[in-house]
Amino acid sequence: MSTTTTTPPAPPVADWLDPSGMARDPYPTYERLRALGSVVHAPAIGRYLLTSHASVSAAERRPELFSAYSETNLTMVRALGGRPMLRKNDPDHCAERSSINATLRPRTVRDTWSPGFSHTVDRWIDHLLEMGPADADLERDFAAPVASSNLIDLLGLSGCVGVGDMRRWSTDFIDGIGNILDAPEVWRRCEQSQAEVGAVLDEILPRLRRAPDSSITSHLLHCGLPDEIVRANVHLAISGGVNEPAHMITNMVWALGTHPGQLAVVRSGEVEWGAAFEETARWLSPIGMVPRETTQELDWFGTRIPLGANVGLLLGSANRDESVFDDAGRYEVRRTARGHLGFGSGVHMCAGRWAAKSAVGEIALPRLYERIPTLRVDPARAADWNGWVFRGLVSLPVTW
Ligand code: HEM
Repeated sequence: MSTTTTTPPAPPVADWLDPSGMARDPYPTYERLRALGSVVHAPAIGRYLLTSHASVSAAERRPELFSAYSETNLTMVRALGGRPMLRKNDPDHCAERSSINATLRPRTVRDTWSPGFSHTVDRWIDHLLEMGPADADLERDFAAPVASSNLIDLLGLSGCVGVGDMRRWSTDFIDGIGNILDAPEVWRRCEQSQAEVGAVLDEILPRLRRAPDSSITSHLLHCGLPDEIVRANVHLAISGGVNEPAHMITNMVWALGTHPGQLAVVRSGEVEWGAAFEETARWLSPIGMVPRETTQELDWFGTRIPLGANVGLLLGSANRDESVFDDAGRYEVRRTARGHLGFGSGVHMCAGRWAAKSAVGEIALPRLYERIPTLRVDPARAADWNGWVFRGLVSLPVTW
């Protein structure tokens, strides 16, 4: 892989790619794309797609070639009301990212945040039980409120924000980030949510300025960032920090529920819950694709990608790459899913990875099965999957 000296051929074209089919189930498309090559041009979505584990991870190691900064792809900047760290390159990105690393390290998560995560999980299991085995929906009655409540804590907004508002803001920002068709109604919702979060921050920031705490918001504020950038990064945390952990809770219950042998292996203690969490993030990655833009013409895995091209790094496809994971399409909690790309990699690797692993993999899931030992996916009511860039269960009826 290099910048070009002689001109390599253009990558194969996937003119058959159907984004609406991918929203139903992206995995057959990923398999077809990988069979075509490590780089594939997909005109239907205006992108060059990196399909293999090798091409995605190599691109993550070369942010000077695959830039997170773009002047043309601005949906995230508009949705969040400013440019967050995820749309910047180092050194600007690093200044913002390093401010929040300390409070999201595994040890700080364990000592500072996990006790609150446990309390939240118990409260919402009570609620799930109250809904009853004929009506309970794991997404609505447990996953979404748990993820929202945990993020309220991490942002230091306890007591000023309800789980319903947090959930709605997250959905609005995610919809805005994906609003490539420019739907005015989506921008209207983003602006409304920005204004509502803004009103909360107007109240909180002066207090945090006087009395810093362990929250993400406080850390962003005290590293000297302009107010607009603090707010954009709080919005970024709201977008990913609710939606993805909620999807991981439902994905894990769905994966284990539809593979009872695997559930038995975890419940017996043979495999740790944390390992099952990693395997689920590999097998059913909540984020299927992340965008980048080329900073020059490239010879990438033997094909030519032009300067200024929109590139999609297909995390969901890389995580099913047979050359890295044996029998990659099989859900197998005993495997070491080490090296999976469900949280990205390189400088933008998910900042909330350890918080999510603790909250979902080590607290929510074991506690759910401990308190509701017969918990299972309800065969009488249909589960509803949606999306491929952000993929998850919109509804997961469960019974016991
Ligand atoms: C299971 C849950 C989660 C998944 C699967 C996930 C996935 C990801 C992925 C794939 C990226 C990289 C995006 C890219 O390279 O373009 C990312 C970045 C990020 N995530 Fe997460 N995430 C999760 C939970 C969280 C939580 C709970 C938080 C907040 C506490 C969070 C905050 C962030 C931030 C701030 C970034 C940007 C990092 C940077 O630019 O340096 N995430 N996440």
